[in-house]
Amino acid sequence: MSRTDFDVVTGAFSYTGRYVTRLLLRQDRPVRTLTGHPGARMFGGAVGAVPYNFDRPDDLARSLEGAHTLYNTYWVRFARGELTHDVAVRNIKTMLSAAESAGVRRVVHVSITNADADSPLPYFRGKALAEEAVRASAMSHAILRPTVIFGREDLLLNNIAWTLRRFPFFPVFGRGDYRVQPIYVGDHAALMVEAGQREDSYAMDSVGPDVYTYEEMVRLIADSIGARVRVAHVGRRLGMLMTGLVGLAMRDVTLTRDEVEGLMADLLVSHGEPTGETNLADWLAEYGTDLGKGYVSELDRHYRAGSPGAGSGDWR
Ligand SMILES: NC(=O)c1ccc[n+]([C@@H]2O[C@H](COP(=O)([O-])OP(=O)(O)OC[C@H]3O[C@@H](n4cnc5c(N)ncnc54)[C@H](OP(=O)(O)O)[C@@H]3O)[C@@H](O)[C@H]2O)c1
Repeated sequence: MSRTDFDVVTGAFSYTGRYVTRLLLRQDRPVRTLTGHPGARMFGGAVGAVPYNFDRPDDLARSLEGAHTLYNTYWVRFARGELTHDVAVRNIKTMLSAAESAGVRRVVHVSITNADADSPLPYFRGKALAEEAVRASAMSHAILRPTVIFGREDLLLNNIAWTLRRFPFFPVFGRGDYRVQPIYVGDHAALMVEAGQREDSYAMDSVGPDVYTYEEMVRLIADSIGARVRVAHVGRRLGMLMTGLVGLAMRDVTLTRDEVEGLMADLLVSHGEPTGETNLADWLAEYGTDLGKGYVSELDRHYRAGSPGAGSGDWR
């Protein structure tokens, strides 16, 4: 099969999309991005940027014409205003239809471990519905299901470290013995790019080599930044109240109920083999000292004017 001229990566200036973009550019694959930040400058201007245009499907299709693979990272972490998970699913369906009519050959789509159409959690249910739409499309596809994705621009680990640096104790929901299987963002991006180069349709978990309990992960982060951690086990209600207060102070949404429930229900681990290689403890030993020096805000990234992510200078 001859490869068409370029690939489209959604969110090339944001978190995981920028790692996918970097790998593709290193392989001399031209990249265009669909983004909510078309004015951002990164990759020395090598990446053409177009707004998502979900409300103008013809324009959306035109921006996908000539592309070989659509790497879709688009999703919303939580419902805010009119932008709910249902709307995000609808936007993904619009993007898939536009890609089909533009002649895109393949879609690599990012989901979550244990996505489930019957889940009571809108995040996990919406992810399953988006997966169904990908499977129903005429394009060949790969669906990657990550857990927590760690890296320098990640919010979750950074803000855990930020909290550990500033407060005398760290609230852990319940017993803290529910598990996480974090994957390094570079490993996840490599799985995506590899998926873009295959022709078969499949789904796989995107998960690192190690499973930690949540409390173990917090303690690892504390060690890496040299913080003395005093863990306070708190109930759901008190925990949500505390994270809500931090959110209020930082004008952000720190953790959502969906995320806490998903975590506590052990949904962020895989039932299969690890697919990433990088060990979180090794990565923290190398890069962890800078974690949490500043707070990283989801609302700044996606709801306020400005740059899409930390370190968004001329990133290569
Ligand atoms: N990060 C993790 O730890 C993690 C864990 C499990 C699964 N995932 C999944 O991995 C995928 C990529 O995650 P990511 O962390 O790399 O996301 P991201 O970079 O923050 O966002 C990915 C794309 O979605 C857009 N987007 C995000 N929130 C939006 C909002 N509220 N309104 C409008 N557009 C929004 C971004 O727009 P801009 O281009 O304007 O930034 C970007 O194009 C998602 O499907 C996510 O569910 C991530």
